[in-house]
Formats: sequence, C-alpha cells, structure tokens
Amino acid sequence: MSKQDAETGVIAAENIDRVEAGNLDRVEAPVTWRTYAMCVFASFGGIFFGYDSGYIGGVQGMDFFIQMIEGPGAKELSSSHTSLIVSILSAGTFCGALIAGDLADFFGRRFTIILGSAIFIVGVALQTASAGLGLLVAGRAVAGLGVGFVSAVIVLYMSEIAPKKVRGAIVSGYQFCITIGLLLAACVTYGTESFDNSSSYRIPIGLQMVWALILGIGLMFLPESPRYFIKKGKVEEARKALGRVRGQDPNSDYVEAELNEIRANHEYEKRITPETGYIGSWLLCFTGSIGLASSNVRKTLLGISLQMMQQWTGVNFVFYYSTIFLKGTGAVSNPFLMSLIFTLVNVLSTPVSFWLVERFGRRSMLLWGAIGMTICEFIVAIVGVTVGFNHTHDVNGVSIANNIAAVNAQIAFIAIYIFCFATTWGPGAWVLIGEIFPITIRSRGIALSTASNWFWNFIIGFITPYLVGADYANMQSSVFFLWGALCASCIVYAYFLVPETKGLTLEQVDQMLEEVSPRKSAAWKPTTTFASMEKNQTTA
Ligand code: BGC
Repeated sequence: MSKQDAETGVIAAENIDRVEAGNLDRVEAPVTWRTYAMCVFASFGGIFFGYDSGYIGGVQGMDFFIQMIEGPGAKELSSSHTSLIVSILSAGTFCGALIAGDLADFFGRRFTIILGSAIFIVGVALQTASAGLGLLVAGRAVAGLGVGFVSAVIVLYMSEIAPKKVRGAIVSGYQFCITIGLLLAACVTYGTESFDNSSSYRIPIGLQMVWALILGIGLMFLPESPRYFIKKGKVEEARKALGRVRGQDPNSDYVEAELNEIRANHEYEKRITPETGYIGSWLLCFTGSIGLASSNVRKTLLGISLQMMQQWTGVNFVFYYSTIFLKGTGAVSNPFLMSLIFTLVNVLSTPVSFWLVERFGRRSMLLWGAIGMTICEFIVAIVGVTVGFNHTHDVNGVSIANNIAAVNAQIAFIAIYIFCFATTWGPGAWVLIGEIFPITIRSRGIALSTASNWFWNFIIGFITPYLVGADYANMQSSVFFLWGALCASCIVYAYFLVPETKGLTLEQVDQMLEEVSPRKSAAWKPTTTFASMEKNQTTA
C-alpha cells in the first residue's frame, strides 16, 4: 500500500480493485467549497424555470398588455388567447426537454445547457420586441425550447458532478432556485403592473435574459461531467474533469478510485446492453420486465411517474391560480399579496429539504410529505364545504365570506400544505430522477421525466380554470378534495415504488435496484464495487 495509505487511511489506486464497497467512503474526496460553488452555480438554472412559469400570470393581468393583445378598451384576455399564451411555453419546454437528452449525450451536458441559454435569449428577445400576439407566441415557443434544454440537463449535470454525500442537498438547491425564480417573477410583475406603457410587460420579460447570460457564461468556466467523458471513451478528459469537480489532483487516489468505479459501471452496463441504432437506443429506455425494479422500463416509468405525481399534488393550482381563488373567497383584502406570501413560504421552506433529504432520505421524505399534504388538503376541502369558502354569498357580483375565520383557517392550511410540498416533493422528485437511471439511459431518462413534469404542468394549468370557473364545474375549495385524493395516491406510490438512494453513488443505486425491492431499499448496504466485479469478469 502507498505511503498516503499508511498515513491517512486512504486506499491507493493500484489496490482499488480489492476495495470492498463499505470502504469506498474512505477513498471519496472530501467535499470542498469549490465543489459546492460549482453545483450551487449550476442550480442557478432553476431560476429560469421558476421565473418563466411565474411571470406570465402577472403579465396577463396587466391592462396595457391586455389591450395590446385584445385591442383598446379590453378588460381581459379571451380564454383562447390565455390558453395559447400559457400553453405554448409548455409545448416548447416539452419538446426541448425531449431533444435535450440526445444533445447532452452527443455534445455534452455543459454545451447543451449553454445552447439552451442561447436559444432562450433569442426567445426572450422576440417576446420583448413583440407588440402583438404573433411574435409573443413565437418567442414563448422558442424560449420554451431553451427552458426545456436547461431544465432537463441541469439535473443530469448536477447529479453527475455532485459528491454522493451531498448530492440530494445540491439538487434540492435547484428546486430552491425554482422557488426564487417564482418569487422574483411575482415581485417584478407586482412592481411594473401599474405602468401604462409597454415597459409594464417588457421589463419582466426582458429581465430573464440576465439569468440566461449568467448561467451560459458561468458554465463556460465549469468542467464537463466526467461521466459524459467516460460514456464517450475519453478517460483522460474524465480524469481531469473529475479532478476539477472534486478539487483534487487528477492523479490522486481519490480521483483514481472514483474514476475506476464510474468506468467499471459503464463497462458493466455496456456489456449487458445490446448495441442498438438511434431508435433502438430510445427503445432501450423501455426494455426489461415491468415487474423488476432494476429494469430500464421500470426506471423510466418511475422517473416519468415521479414528475407526474409531483404535479398531481396540485401545487401549481396555488402558484397559478391562487390570486383568482383568493379573490373568490371574499375574505382577503389583498389577494395578490397573499399569493406572494404563499410564494415566500415556498422559498423559505425549501432549504429545510437540504437537511431532510440527507438525514431521512428520499423515500421517507416523499412518504411523509404526501401524508402532510393530504391532511392539509382534506382539511381545506372539509372546512370549505362545512363553514368556509363554499358558504360565501354573492352581493351584486361580489363574493362576501359568511365566516371569515373559517376562510382564514383554510388559507393557513394552504400555507402549511406549501410548506409540506417545498420540504419534500418539490425537491425530492428532481433529486430522484437524477439518481435512478443507469448511465446508458440516464440523459434520456431524465429528459423523459422532465418532459412529463412539463406535460402535467400544462394539463393541470389547462383544466384548473374549468374545475373552479363559476361558469363551469365551480368546485370552489372542494377542488382540494381532488388534490387531496391525488395526494393520497402519492402516499401509496411512495410506499410501494420509491427506492431509497441516499448516500449511494449513482453506480451503487444501480446495484441496489437489482438486489432489493423499493420497500427494502433503505436498509440496503453495498457489499462489492463495480471495479471488483469487472476485475472478476475479466479474470474469469
Ligand atoms: C415543480 C413546479 C412548481 C415548483 C414550485 C417544482 O418542483 O416542478 O411545477 O411550480 O416546484 O416550487
């Protein structure tokens, strides 16, 4: 064993094939501030996501904007225009997220994010220049494509460069940035909505270029993901990149050990994966038996459904429609401020997840989060049908609350519900999709999962007005029965299907899924490494 080994307990590279997995911790590089700084910077991409989905609600309520789209004297946007303006972004993001996986494998994770930022800037420029519907919609579609790239590949990149001990917390940082983006959007539109000229909408729209510039330029100085280089067979580049992200000498034992494990895992995956063409490589995401937690199809469905369930919690009902909803209760004097408070609760609660995700793990977090949200949602719904919001009455077209205390209690439980979301499912769904896929399908798996988030985001945004609209289902706060029931299904889902990935390398997650069911995963401990398995394979 090397000198370093004797002094520090670190295991030398030449002995790495003999390292049992339980000892891998000893060869993992300590987490340096540089590593943190890189990951924190990458999470900045979340600001795009949050800001872009958040600003449109405010802009659509602006008098100047309404008249620009509908003509002089108009008081509100037509439903078809609202739907087009809102949904075109999701269409763009959906497509962007799907394409991004391929680009990330071909050109690299970093390049795809920079490209996404550039496309986004073009889309934002078109929207800022627009003085009518056509260019605005075109701009949103283009910007959406860019957001799709960034939202899918940032999670991939961060999960691949973060050290395993803090990976969950770091990807949760991405969610934190989403919440900050939502808050910034709410504040900026609040500040400009009273302007009686085009700057009312041009400022909030144009400001987004700043986020894209910061992210795009900053990423030029960050290293590419070492796992991407390994996938491309560029071992020396992978070594250099790993050295940079770990803040270590590329030839150190730390780097050698981690590199060996990534390489061995890749060799293993390649060996068990048939050679396929382009279509075949997409189909690879859906191979294997659905009954096996370790099969590709099961992992892909898990990623897609995790993001679907995250949207089913109903959180975007609060972020997209709470202003209108609160107005309808007749108990809130400033609904806009109240929605801003919900957004603030979201931002302030998210950092709690940095600790929860590494202390209690992903599985418990999702399970308890779903339980908390279900309870809050049913309380909101039950209070509504008994004494609260559903008992408001109408005086000359204005809702008046019969029981203000009851409505206030409902609002308080909505805030607690947001707390439960922000500390659990908000970050948890993103953390898990970064961890469950093997390297052979990782970029596409994450792309498909992110596209699922945008798809359901769109569906929920689209149907909600019909659920609560006075002319349609007019469910009032009973819509929380629906969200409560969907959240109850999240409890069952988390219990039976979500594995525990805390503290494992991405390569160990693969092994764990092969060996135990999700319900037993929390107790699973690695007993061997891919490096030693590959060594046995070659000597056999
Ligand atoms: C979700 C978004 C949501 C946001 C709220 C994200 O994780 O994917 O749809 O608006 O959290 O913080």
